[in-house]
Amino acid sequence: MERKAGNRAPFGTASLVLAIETSCDETACAVLDGAGAIRAELVSSQIADHAPFGGVVPEIAARAHLAVLPGMAKAALEAAGARPGDLAAIAATVGPGLIGGLIVGANFAKGMAIATGATFYAINHLEAHALTARLPGLGTVPAFPYMLLLASGGHTALIAVEGVGRYRRLGTTLDDAAGEAFDKVAKLLGLDYPGGPALERLATEGEAARFTLPRPLLGRPGCDFSFSGLKTAVAQIAARQPPGALPRGLAADLAASFQRAVVEAMADRLAHALVMMPDCTCVVVAGGVAANGAIRAALAMVASATGRQLMAPPLRLCTDNAVMVAWAAIERARAGASGDDLGVRCRPRWPLDAAPQTFIADKSNFVSV
Ligand code: KG4
Ligand code: ZN
Repeated sequence: MERKAGNRAPFGTASLVLAIETSCDETACAVLDGAGAIRAELVSSQIADHAPFGGVVPEIAARAHLAVLPGMAKAALEAAGARPGDLAAIAATVGPGLIGGLIVGANFAKGMAIATGATFYAINHLEAHALTARLPGLGTVPAFPYMLLLASGGHTALIAVEGVGRYRRLGTTLDDAAGEAFDKVAKLLGLDYPGGPALERLATEGEAARFTLPRPLLGRPGCDFSFSGLKTAVAQIAARQPPGALPRGLAADLAASFQRAVVEAMADRLAHALVMMPDCTCVVVAGGVAANGAIRAALAMVASATGRQLMAPPLRLCTDNAVMVAWAAIERARAGASGDDLGVRCRPRWPLDAAPQTFIADKSNFVSV
């Protein structure tokens, strides 16, 4: 039996959406109005909880979400000047991600939807990243179709965004995600977790030509990524050094050489994707790795060489946040989606181009379960 919360008036620009993001190690809540204006935006990072372990520990993450979420949702509503009864919709990430955290966020949202009568939206985290650049107020709104490069700690993918609910995955990583590779190499170099930003800083002191590292899949057909061979190459060089901490100069040269290899691989893969999808109007980047200046610069060059603009949402919206979750719900509501069944399950894996779990109305085009 289908169970849906919410019998509210049709979704309009004044409607309020509360969104919840708990798929990894950030607890986030946001309140947006139906026009996309941000009324409240809160994020609590668990980095300090996971740092002693050198990576995200799923059980710790789920418990931390549980501890933080109720107070944060209340604070977000207060900051927005709204009461629970004012909400037209409640959206939560239900996948892909760490199952414990997803369950915490999704069940909280479902419970609030039942209690308030708001419509529940079950959001794909990747769809939320994919649509963020269309949020009003960020500059030119990218027109469909556009090319998305998503590079975070958990995902690396090139996706042609053809419309709301219409995504074509052109390539993904065959092994480690880009951010994961940065974090693992940073650890090898003696940097703290999460190592991406620290590695980028160290790389500025280093000589990128010092070490010849592999360029995974460079020049090969398609748009897939692979980073584990590159990481292993760095590990082998580090293992050949005398015991103890790596000398700073050598670590900096390794960081610069590694980053150069990643930059070249990403630029190559993006160039292939744009050849495959010549109609894409622009390139959008998302995910924490998009913070990397060298990567951004290389992607901007590839985009401009083909007459396209590189669009990067501000960093706080590139990394995990709940604004993007609310915006994905708004885009879906505008496209005609009437909300999701409260029986929707959380999905640790949920490829963006897989069949959606519920109806998505996209004008003429209905995709069923
Ligand atoms: O999107 P995000 O905040 O969280 C998820 O993984 O979902 O991405 C975090 C990842 C981490 O692996 C982090 O090391 C990486 O993004 N990162 C960077 C930089 N800033 C963050 N990697 C390279 N250079 C950076 N400046
Ligand atoms: Zn993410």
